[in-house]
Amino acid sequence: MLKAGVFGVGHLGKFHINNWMEIEDVKLIGFYDPDDNNAFEANEKYGLKRYKDASLLMDDCDIVDIVAPTTVHHELCKMAILKSRHVFVEKPLANTMSEAKEIVKLAKEANVKFQVGHVERFNPALLAVKDYDLRPMFIEVHRLAQFNPRGTDVSVILDLMIHDIDIILSLVKSNVKNVFANGVNVLSDTPDIANVRIEFDNGCVANLTSSRISMKKMRKMRLFQKDAYVSIDFLDKKTEIIKYKSPGDKDVFEFDIDTNFGKKTIAISAPVIKENNAIKMELQSFTDAIINNKATPVTEIDGYRAMEVAHQILDKINRNRIL
Ligand SMILES: NC(=O)c1ccc[n+]([C@@H]2O[C@H](COP(=O)([O-])OP(=O)(O)OC[C@H]3O[C@@H](n4cnc5c(N)ncnc54)[C@H](O)[C@@H]3O)[C@@H](O)[C@H]2O)c1
Repeated sequence: MLKAGVFGVGHLGKFHINNWMEIEDVKLIGFYDPDDNNAFEANEKYGLKRYKDASLLMDDCDIVDIVAPTTVHHELCKMAILKSRHVFVEKPLANTMSEAKEIVKLAKEANVKFQVGHVERFNPALLAVKDYDLRPMFIEVHRLAQFNPRGTDVSVILDLMIHDIDIILSLVKSNVKNVFANGVNVLSDTPDIANVRIEFDNGCVANLTSSRISMKKMRKMRLFQKDAYVSIDFLDKKTEIIKYKSPGDKDVFEFDIDTNFGKKTIAISAPVIKENNAIKMELQSFTDAIINNKATPVTEIDGYRAMEVAHQILDKINRNRIL
């Protein structure tokens, strides 16, 4: 039985506690949080032991689960890795690139399992197209949220857009060539809304808009590739594939259109969405990686690559502001 400790029992930390309690092979032994109110709540609700010293909790654990603000990810990750503990850390991996670089180096040296909480990888709307041959050449993304002071310790890029950056980097098998970005601080002192264009060496272009000051929520990714358009709605958990009909296509809505190549049949299909608990699935997959000694599904390198692009975006935003 693996022993786990949760570091940070605020909004998301409580979900982690709930989910760890449902995962076989893991025993949750306690939590660390310097905030007395959140600690009291977690202790009352789950009857879980509160440790007053992060280091002592790490000593007692095999798994260190970090759900604290981004600004303390590095210090907690470093402490855990130096004690050879397996680490699950919420996204983004760290606050600065030098912090992220050190975490990657230490994790490699210690040979521990490390996973970053890019939970949207486990969104059932994305998993529904896991077996579809995605080779996007144009990507349009909107991730809009209402304002919430939680998360404003970092920009909307590191808070929200990083989810889409990570997914795009996992789908586009090519290096980033250029990044163009604009962003504005509206309600906090870091960008709250931003528009970004990422160009890849293979010609793929991704346009991303992220906002944490919107009136309505939206989390949509549209992927265009040769012969197909795939629409993924992360919020409403719906996915659609629109393409020329192929022999053998089943369960499609179809209609004919006239093209330069003559009449073609368009097929619209909605892959089956298998409802899931994405947080439980990511924590379970981390546990499986430890037990079966295999790679975690979102490694520290994935977390680092997403941060690298996020920081290029932030640099461009800052530069555009000065000009
Ligand atoms: N994957 C996602 O979709 C997602 C969603 C929300 C938040 N997050 C990430 O999760 C993390 C926490 O976010 P949240 O919304 O729960 O924030 P929160 O402010 O609700 O909770 C953070 C908790 O961490 C505690 N804390 C502060 N310093 C600490 C330390 N040194 N050690 C341990 N605990 C400490 C705080 O007292 C607080 O209770 C952030 O990194 C955020 O980016 C990820």
